[in-house]
Amino acid sequence: MPQAEPITLALSKGRILEQTLPLLAPLGIEPLEDPEKSRQLLIPTRRDDVRLIIVRATDVPTYVAYGGADLGVAGKDVLMEQGGHGLYEPVDLRIARCRLMVAGPPDTDLERRRLRVATKFVNITRRYFAARGRQVDLIKLYGSMELAPMVGLADVIVDLVDTGNTLKANGLAPLECIADISARLVVNKTSMKLRHQALKPMISQIAESVE
Ligand code: ADP
Ligand code: PRP
Ligand code: MG
Repeated sequence: MPQAEPITLALSKGRILEQTLPLLAPLGIEPLEDPEKSRQLLIPTRRDDVRLIIVRATDVPTYVAYGGADLGVAGKDVLMEQGGHGLYEPVDLRIARCRLMVAGPPDTDLERRRLRVATKFVNITRRYFAARGRQVDLIKLYGSMELAPMVGLADVIVDLVDTGNTLKANGLAPLECIADISARLVVNKTSMKLRHQALKPMISQIAESVE
C-alpha cells in the first residue's frame, strides 16, 4: 500500500514556533531537526504522518489557503490584514498574545486633519479609520514602525504592542486599541473535507492542549 501524503503543518520561526511546539508535543509531533537552526525548510517529525514546513509568518495563510500545507499557525493580525480567504480558523491557540494599537507621541490629536499613519497593517488601518470617519494618509512600512513618528515620517503608527517597552523606548504611548491578538490554528478548506478523518482528531487534540 502506498503511504498517504503526510499532513503538512506550516509554522514560522520565532515566537510562533517556540510557543506552538509545546502544544504539538502531546500529539507526538516533535521535529526531528531544530527548525530554528536547520537550513532545511521541510522538517520531518517523530510521527511519519506529519511534517512541518517553516515559512515567513505572513506567508502562512498563503501556504495553507493554496494547499501547500494542510494546517498552519498564524497571528490574528496577519489573518485580519490578509482577509483569511480559503481558510478555516477552528482554534484560538491563545499564544503570541498582544494587542494591535494606534500609538504615537502622548500629546497626539487623533482628530487632526489628514493624520499620517505609518504601518505594515494598511488594510486594517484603512478600515479602522474609515469606520470612524477619520481621513488618514497611510504610509506603508515593513517593520521598525516605532521609528516613524520620531523622525517626522508619520504622526502615529499602527503596530503590535505587548509589554509596551518598544513604544516607551521610542517616546511613544499607546493611544487606541484596535484588536486583541493571538495565534490561530488555520486549516485548508479542501483538506478539511478530503482528509477529515486525519485532521478532525488532530484539531481536537490541539484544542485540548490549549486547555
Ligand atoms: P515577524 O517576523 O513577522 O515579525 P513574529 O514572530 O515577530 O514574526 O510575529 C509573529 C506573530 O506573533 C505576529 O503575527 C503576532 O500575531 C505575534 N506577535 C508579534 N509581536 C508580538 C509580541 N511582541 N508579543 C506577542 N506576540 C507578538
Ligand atoms: C514586535 C512588534 C513591536 C514589539 C512590541 O516586534 O512589532 O515592535 O514586538 O512588543 P513590546 O510591546 O513587548 O515591546 P518583534 O519583537 O517581533 O520584532 P521584529 O521587528 O523583528 O518583528
Ligand atoms: Mg515581529
